Amino acid sequence: MKTKILVTGGTGYIGSHTVVELQNAGYEVVIIDNLSNSNAAVIDGIEAITGIRPVFVEGDCTDINTLHELFKANPGIKGIINFAASKAVGESVQKPLLYYRNNLNTLMNLLDLMPEYGVKGIVFSSSCTVYGEPDVNPIDETAPIKPATSPYGNTKQVCEEIIEDYIRSGAPIKSILLRYFNPIGAHPSAEIGELPLGVPQNLVPYLTQTAAGIRKELTVFGDDYNTPDGSCIRDYIDVVDLAKAHVIAMKRMLDGEDTDAVEIFNLGTGRGLSVLELIASFERATGVKVPHKIGPRRAGDIEKIWADPKKANEVLGWTASVPVDETMKNAWAWQCKVSKH
Ligand code: UD1
Repeated sequence: MKTKILVTGGTGYIGSHTVVELQNAGYEVVIIDNLSNSNAAVIDGIEAITGIRPVFVEGDCTDINTLHELFKANPGIKGIINFAASKAVGESVQKPLLYYRNNLNTLMNLLDLMPEYGVKGIVFSSSCTVYGEPDVNPIDETAPIKPATSPYGNTKQVCEEIIEDYIRSGAPIKSILLRYFNPIGAHPSAEIGELPLGVPQNLVPYLTQTAAGIRKELTVFGDDYNTPDGSCIRDYIDVVDLAKAHVIAMKRMLDGEDTDAVEIFNLGTGRGLSVLELIASFERATGVKVPHKIGPRRAGDIEKIWADPKKANEVLGWTASVPVDETMKNAWAWQCKVSKH
């Protein structure tokens, strides 16, 4: 019998790519999503790629009764991957309670119900944002956690602590906390990808929309940082690589006999790229020019951060493998498909 996994936020960007990889790996998936930042057509994309239509529950994880009903209607769920969360840094500064309510209540409801319904483990979407501006790069999992610079970032730190405290209290569950660096790209089939609502805040969707003529010009936020070309440096990780790490983490958590109850992994490539280098990669990979100008720094931006992914490489046996030019090609194919509609 297939192992059943609940994916919260499973119609979202990283969630949908992870559902594909879970199904490809033989897991049975139940998705819950409130469609606040995605749409139900994503399920068609998942089915087109895998030939399997996951069970989809439209609902909100902040409502515990919805979750009770879901667990009763779908008995035997063994693991959860929790993607359901609000994720825009700027918006979180404007609407802190929305962020604390969504991100914390969702996690606490899930944790609360796991023992009752026999769920063994939860993989949590965390972020490199917990490290703040690192003292040294690359950064590994033992680096200090810095005070959060936004309510969004704070929810990631607090959620990590909630999981650790709950397990320390004796709750009969396990957890793997995955700290993502900057996920980008789309599935190579162009059936699923990132679908930002309104004006994108993140670099790659803004870049591809500019290349498509939807936006006039991309602004590079600052070229006076202490980096070789003056623009900020990040560790951009292909979303399919990232999705695959979740499948490995889930297997380890559920099947590993003597693994720790809580484990933490950085998920990145180990390579830092500047904003200007990423634009160059896109232009090289697609042959399409991206009109861009240098603008002022964006408040709250970190100068440079990239991962030391050694622990994930060695313990999970996972390595990011998609070259960034290919990732940019996939992002462009997805943008072209979306623009046609
Ligand atoms: C941040 C968080 C990440 C979080 C994400 C959610 C850090 C290190 N990362 O990513 O954990 O999941 O927000 O939104 O805190 N840029 C431009 N022009 C643009 C847009 C972006 O130059 O129009 C630059 C930014 O200054 C930055 C880079 O592109 O240097 C990446 O920005 P973005 O895609 O927004 O991600 P982060 O802010 O790194």
